[in-house]
Amino acid sequence: MPKDSLTVIDNRTGASYELPICDGTVKAADLHKIKTGDGDFGLLSYDPGFANTASTRSSITFVDGEKGILRYRGYPIESLAVKANYLETAFLIINGRLPTAPQLAVWERDIRYHSMLHTNIQNLIETFRYDAHPMSVFISSIASLATLYPDSRDVTDPENRRLQIARIIAKVPTIAACSYRHNQGWPANRPDDSLSYVGNFLNMMFKMTEVKYEPNPVLERALNILFVLHADHEQNCGTTAMRVIGSAQADPYSALAGAAAALYGPLHGAANEAVLKQLEQIGEPAQVPAFIERVKRGECRLMGFGHRVYKNYDPRCRIIKKTAEEVFRVTGSNILVDVALELERIALEDEYFISRKLYPNVDFYSGLIYRAMNLPASLFTVMFAVPRTCGWLAHWLEAFEDPEQKLMRPRQIYTGAEEREYVSLGAR
Ligand code: CMC
Repeated sequence: MPKDSLTVIDNRTGASYELPICDGTVKAADLHKIKTGDGDFGLLSYDPGFANTASTRSSITFVDGEKGILRYRGYPIESLAVKANYLETAFLIINGRLPTAPQLAVWERDIRYHSMLHTNIQNLIETFRYDAHPMSVFISSIASLATLYPDSRDVTDPENRRLQIARIIAKVPTIAACSYRHNQGWPANRPDDSLSYVGNFLNMMFKMTEVKYEPNPVLERALNILFVLHADHEQNCGTTAMRVIGSAQADPYSALAGAAAALYGPLHGAANEAVLKQLEQIGEPAQVPAFIERVKRGECRLMGFGHRVYKNYDPRCRIIKKTAEEVFRVTGSNILVDVALELERIALEDEYFISRKLYPNVDFYSGLIYRAMNLPASLFTVMFAVPRTCGWLAHWLEAFEDPEQKLMRPRQIYTGAEEREYVSLGAR
């Protein structure tokens, strides 16, 4: 009998099965052997929301939700956030190692090379209504890139996959900035090669008539930290969408549009937008206790609180809160910051939140920084999608290189009608 195994006794037949335990998991396919007879399909595992299912092996990101630990390729997030720039982090996440100085220079050059947007996509963005949600514009534009790069369908070619990765990471800030400026009614800005990835993003968003845009160093640093913190978070909803679509060997633009669409949901990446709306709705610190009571009565959720994996303070939130203080010293604070601090204070002392292990997550304070930068709440999820792109692509690549991965296609428990006769329209 293997040492690490689970013995399952089927009370229906009395049969005993040994399920090997490897890496703290049993293979769902091993359950399939448990059947009462030839006509029995075999035992399935049932896991709505995949709350207790590992869908892959991955060496990209480590999260320990109980202890509040997050590491990319082994490096603690606390150290990367303050020491690494975003492109260095993206290289690490995608390639598994920190770049040497020459490797980083080549990587930065490749990204700069691809940062321009074809006018077809710019024209496409112009056709959306002036108030189109920038996340809808972002998703549509990403999907549309596949029309310009039909070579991207050749996903089985490793060189081609690398080319598309550089293209996508280079173009997402340009698309995001174009969607923002379309909402504002301003013409699109060209990328500026002399700036960092994050500095150039600020340039494409905010440059007006000045000859040369100089990013504010405090805001550039804060945005770099936010980008590093958002770069990856293992098998979340958007990344899983990327892997599912990628498993069908769709081109990466289509897969990434799917991942971004998942991120757009308010339980996922659009929570940062919902947090800000909630803070505005609460209005002032004195209203916080009444609002908390509403949450406890189940009338609404406290957005930016709770996480499927973290049952402790989200380590990203701690860094964002500190970064926010630095930004507010430059931009000035506002009443919503006080509301957020009061919400956190009361919630962390309240039995409802303590017993459910609900702590502030990455989205709780990030929106306050974006608001301090004068960005509209509708853009917040785009500000999440831009840096998350490298994580999505790293997982897409990892899945391709994993011989255990195959077309993702879960099973179901059918609960519908038994076979029945068709009834003609007039007889119903
Ligand atoms: N406010 C109030 N109650 C909550 C909250 C919340 N934010 N989150 C969870 N709960 C309660 C929930 O009602 C349930 O209580 P009970 O056991 O009495 O029914 C319990 O906590 C467990 O909740 P769950 O929905 O089973 O937990 P989950 O792991 O499925 O949910 C979550 C995780 C993130 C969807 C949820 O915490 C939530 O809706 N949070 C607010 C939205 C949010 O901030 N999302 C951003 C997540 S982090 C960034 C990202 O993933 O993109």
